[in-house]
Amino acid sequence: MKVSNRVWNIEASPMRKLNPIVRELIQQGIKVYQLNIGQPDIKTPNAFLNAIQDFSDEIISYTPSEGIPELIKSIQNYYKMYNIHFNEDEILVTNGGSEALLYAFMGVCDIGDQVLIPEPFYSNYNTFAKLAGAEIVAIPTKIEDDFALPSFEKLDALINKKVKAILLTHPGNPTGKVYNQEEMQRIAKLALKHDLFIIADEVYREFVYDGISYNSFASREEIKDRVIIIDSVSKRYSACGARIGCISSKNKQLMKQLLKVCQSRLSVPILEQIGATALFSTPKEYFYEIIEIYRKRRDIVYQSLKQMEGVICGKPQGAFYIIAKLPIDDCDAFAKWMLEKFRINNETLLLAPAKSFYSTQGMGNDEMRIAYILEEESLKRAMYILQEALKKYPGRKY
Ligand SMILES: Cc1ncc(COP(=O)(O)O)c(C=O)c1O
Repeated sequence: MKVSNRVWNIEASPMRKLNPIVRELIQQGIKVYQLNIGQPDIKTPNAFLNAIQDFSDEIISYTPSEGIPELIKSIQNYYKMYNIHFNEDEILVTNGGSEALLYAFMGVCDIGDQVLIPEPFYSNYNTFAKLAGAEIVAIPTKIEDDFALPSFEKLDALINKKVKAILLTHPGNPTGKVYNQEEMQRIAKLALKHDLFIIADEVYREFVYDGISYNSFASREEIKDRVIIIDSVSKRYSACGARIGCISSKNKQLMKQLLKVCQSRLSVPILEQIGATALFSTPKEYFYEIIEIYRKRRDIVYQSLKQMEGVICGKPQGAFYIIAKLPIDDCDAFAKWMLEKFRINNETLLLAPAKSFYSTQGMGNDEMRIAYILEEESLKRAMYILQEALKKYPGRKY
């Protein structure tokens, strides 16, 4: 017997593959600052558990495959705050943004089709693409120019008959990039010229800093029938374990076909949908304080990195990640070395090696992603550990 090449070819999550070592270290009493995954430490709004406590059905039943009507209504109302208007049959509730992404790939790609994605990108896109039999074509962007999109001509040159969609993470993970109006227009022009879908992963929509104005891809009239929005309660309401997300599009054909896919997995858990219904009704003001918390954390990490010799990074505009180019030979080796060999007062640090955020061979080898998801004092300590680790690392390049 042999397992499929499809699953063989998938890589272990770069964010999670070092977790077994971390568990061992914790058992040995070593403190590990875990800035490797986007698991926020912000308290989930009480509304989630309150709503579940009020649940009084005697049977935990299947729910409609598209999601319970109350949740869909709540999502519709939430979107209105951002000038996004979806009818109820244009939203499908999913098991997290992850399932929504997999469905997006499956919905727009046949085997061998291609999706353009600015690189570096959220590494699980690789897995979703492979499961759908699709290929990712990287749009190169650089840390040195804050991950700006290439010119229209350069984007245009990447298109061939196999390209079916362009996927953008807005705001970006791992880059923190927020697309400006001009860049969004460029994407829209490209999609119109080549009849492409635009998959907009906007799970970090609220987390935008420094007064930068944010516009959803769904609010652009000229592309409304080709935009697919990916969303989730995970980061927005710090409810990663609820596993509730959605895929939304005005493209009726796509939604009709994806409903069949949803039907095959029957439904999404009922209690979490009830909790998520309450979360999506959270007033916009809730985010003001949260955004400020993340903004301060970003500043701590950014300022600390700027002071480290040999480190290059830009100032992220959104989400809660920063990519840093470090004076190291290999990000995987460095991450492992920190865990296995480097301690300050019995403390160490875990970051996400950035190689897996690139599909272009050889890229990202000297980069790490830092998720600023711990409170300020822990982040300061973590940055101190990084600074000292860089001084001692035997694989330091310069
Ligand atoms: C850009 C992006 N999209 C989607 C997801 C998936 O989130 P979830 O499945 O928890 O909704 C994540 C999680 O880190 C992410 O960073």
